[in-house]
Amino acid sequence: MRKRVGVLISGRGSNLQALIEACKAPDYPAEIVLVLSNVPGAAGLSHAEAAYIQTLTINHKDFATREAFDAALDAALIQARVELLCNAGFMRLHTAGFVARWLNRHLNIHPSLLPAFTGLHTHKRVIEAGVTLSGCTVHIVRPEMDEGPIVAQAAIPVLPSDTAETLAARVLAAEHRLYPHALALVASGAVRIEGERVVRTTQEGDQSPLFSPPVSGAL
Ligand code: GRF
Repeated sequence: MRKRVGVLISGRGSNLQALIEACKAPDYPAEIVLVLSNVPGAAGLSHAEAAYIQTLTINHKDFATREAFDAALDAALIQARVELLCNAGFMRLHTAGFVARWLNRHLNIHPSLLPAFTGLHTHKRVIEAGVTLSGCTVHIVRPEMDEGPIVAQAAIPVLPSDTAETLAARVLAAEHRLYPHALALVASGAVRIEGERVVRTTQEGDQSPLFSPPVSGAL
């Protein structure tokens, strides 16, 4: 059975689009049943509509508290019988109660090699710090922003000529391959969460030096 996935977005939705494309494969272990935006008119909603996926906007500004907003999200997800939740550029922090409700069934993607460079303006800070490798991480959501067990990472070299924009573009291309891969690992049961670590339940394949675990094809 494919896992029923809900995707939370706030904006552009290019990672959502990558997940939509991945779900078209007949053997992909997940299907997107609901795309939820906290921002009315978020560009990503049109990707879902084009793929005939149910969409819903729950504007956080309509709620007096974070708890009330998260309760509305939760109710919508339960009504759609969502089993796994993916944040894809969702720009709201969740309450501890919401995180507990979706514990170990909730993924996020962040454009750095976590635990380094949590938070906003990642690529600018990466360049300013002078690191030579950056990348992206899919992790299990915990109450602290951009923290939680790591499902998969991709490493991207930082070039001397890079600006925040050029680095962001190369990392984003990796994100689009990494997120579908990481969701498949979780949805298929190829990994399980043991405390604060994600462990493989199946045989390891070839290990590429830049994707861990590896994904097929070249960057
Ligand atoms: C991505 O870089 C993601 O890692 C971060 O927010 C951005 C969302 O982009 N959390 P998009 O909306 O998926 O295009």
